[in-house]
Amino acid sequence: MKTMDEARLSERKEVLRDFFGGADAEQLSDEMIRNLFQFEELMLKYRCAIREVTTKLEVLNDELSSSLAHNPIESIQSRIKRPYSIARKLNDLGRPGTVESIAQNLNDVAGIRVICPFINDIYDVAEMLLRQDDVVLISKKDYIRSPKPSGYRSLHLIIEIPVFFSTQKESIRVEIQIRTVAMDFWASLEHQLYYKSRSAVDADIARELYLCAETIAQTDQKMQELRDRIEDEKNKG
Ligand code: GTP
Ligand code: MG
Repeated sequence: MKTMDEARLSERKEVLRDFFGGADAEQLSDEMIRNLFQFEELMLKYRCAIREVTTKLEVLNDELSSSLAHNPIESIQSRIKRPYSIARKLNDLGRPGTVESIAQNLNDVAGIRVICPFINDIYDVAEMLLRQDDVVLISKKDYIRSPKPSGYRSLHLIIEIPVFFSTQKESIRVEIQIRTVAMDFWASLEHQLYYKSRSAVDADIARELYLCAETIAQTDQKMQELRDRIEDEKNKG
């Protein structure tokens, strides 16, 4: 990884020493400050990757909305994983807690969530994104065809896309979760109630939440069927 040049580093060092070091400013080492800059540079790369993928998705949405006669994307959300979550995940994975280790070991520092109206839109959007020749698929998990034991449904893609900077090109990983409005409704509420604090909740509640996911999935399926019927009628008439 290209590090910030030494001149700029020493220029900012004094300011940052005061800012982060406070009364212990002298103990804030050059290495710490260098790591801070490297971390910032890396996060900038992830932000650029998110911007590129978001633009690709928006372009697809605009284009597909004319051929499909509806918008296949309802909304796009994105986030960069926070420093504490990054450190905790590296720790959980037993990987070094260094800046270099982040890009090597984590796939979900840059995350994009795409919300679609109908189930088929999910596959249309994924297929068209993956068809683009600068998008490299690293892994695909279809939790719609094979839902998680919790009842969670979504299509997960890990992709790599090239981001062009002034002197080099880098492949950056992005996690994309694609789901319907209904799947998102369940996942958001379940996340608030439950996800990552499972041990604190009893099996009855888990079962109820699972049944909610099933009900929602049936409704999603029904909505898809209704849309297909409407399309058929339109094409006949
Ligand atoms: P993480 O370490 O959580 O990122 O999991 P992973 O790397 O094994 O990937 P996985 O495909 O299992 O899930 C990645 C992401 O999907 C999670 O960070 C959540 O955002 C979402 N997710 C997975 N399972 C569930 C679930 O049961 N409920 C909810 N609400 N979200 C889930
Ligand atoms: Mg994750």
